[in-house]
Amino acid sequence: MEFNSFSSIGFVFILAFVFIPCSVSVPFIVLHGIGDQCANRGVKQFTKQLRDFSGADGYCIEVGAGTWDSWFVPLEEQTRIVCEKVKEMEELRQGYNIVGLSQGNLIGRGVVEFCDNGPPVKNLISLGGPHAGIASVPLCGSGIFCIIANKLIKGKIYSDYIQEHLAPSGYIKLPNDMTDYLGRCRFLPKLNNELPDERNSTYKERLSSLENLVLIMFEQDNVLVPRETSWFGYYPDGAFNSILGPEQTDLYIEDWIGLRTLDEAGRIKYISVSGGHLGISKSDMKKHVVPYLTSSASPTNGNNEVNGLQRKVVGCKKEPV
Ligand SMILES: *[C@@H]1O[C@H](CO)[C@@H](O)[C@H](O)[C@H]1NC(C)=O
Repeated sequence: MEFNSFSSIGFVFILAFVFIPCSVSVPFIVLHGIGDQCANRGVKQFTKQLRDFSGADGYCIEVGAGTWDSWFVPLEEQTRIVCEKVKEMEELRQGYNIVGLSQGNLIGRGVVEFCDNGPPVKNLISLGGPHAGIASVPLCGSGIFCIIANKLIKGKIYSDYIQEHLAPSGYIKLPNDMTDYLGRCRFLPKLNNELPDERNSTYKERLSSLENLVLIMFEQDNVLVPRETSWFGYYPDGAFNSILGPEQTDLYIEDWIGLRTLDEAGRIKYISVSGGHLGISKSDMKKHVVPYLTSSASPTNGNNEVNGLQRKVVGCKKEPV
């Protein structure tokens, strides 16, 4: 009798698990840009739209004290914080996608490359990411953050003080000051494996394990200088008068971080959309972002069938049974 009632409870549970409609798509996180925070309407709406369009669960991850920290906490530290947060999130255990906005992309890529024992990142979808650096501080209005930032910048951008107190100084790359950049800039040279004596093949392995790296550039972007940095294009060392396409850079040719590997496998999507910095239209979101959030598995990877099932079960467990 007892055995019977147990088995029927078991049966009900099995039915519940099988018939509850549950999403098979991988969850995503959104990493916002500088001067922004998850509580702001724009980011909230963006995250919600992606959730609505894709049907996937999505979370905006805050680094710390929102806007303030996005300006004044160095990017190594911001990356470390996000790494700890994603490791704690049960929802991401089976893998997740990252949608990066502007500076958030460097944090996202930092999480992919540096985060030991973090959950696997499947797709990195980058909107206006300063991947190869920027040659000027992000345009600012007259807000308090900009006043403080501008005061800080009066010093030298690669000084220890600025490197420790101003996030964008971690990815300002002055082509006419490469010695200081390589020697003293703390974040981007490491992220891009630019230091000849310190190249770490783990970063390359991890980045090239992405299913897709989607690089969206905004055609009228006036914030990123040059806007081609969104595709890993940049000025050649020593000059501002031309811009190298991504495949013309040493980073690509010598494959320091796996960009070439990814590209040759057809896993980089170079996308150019009309609009100013981060001004993506709904239709471009649906066309260039959402497809990477809805596909639960890429057909090329034999393991995905199993992963898909696991994800399904995890997804169902969260439903009220
Ligand atoms: C390379 O990076 C990995 C991951 O962070 C780290 O465990 C390893 O110690 C690094 N290797 C070297 C030679 O620094």
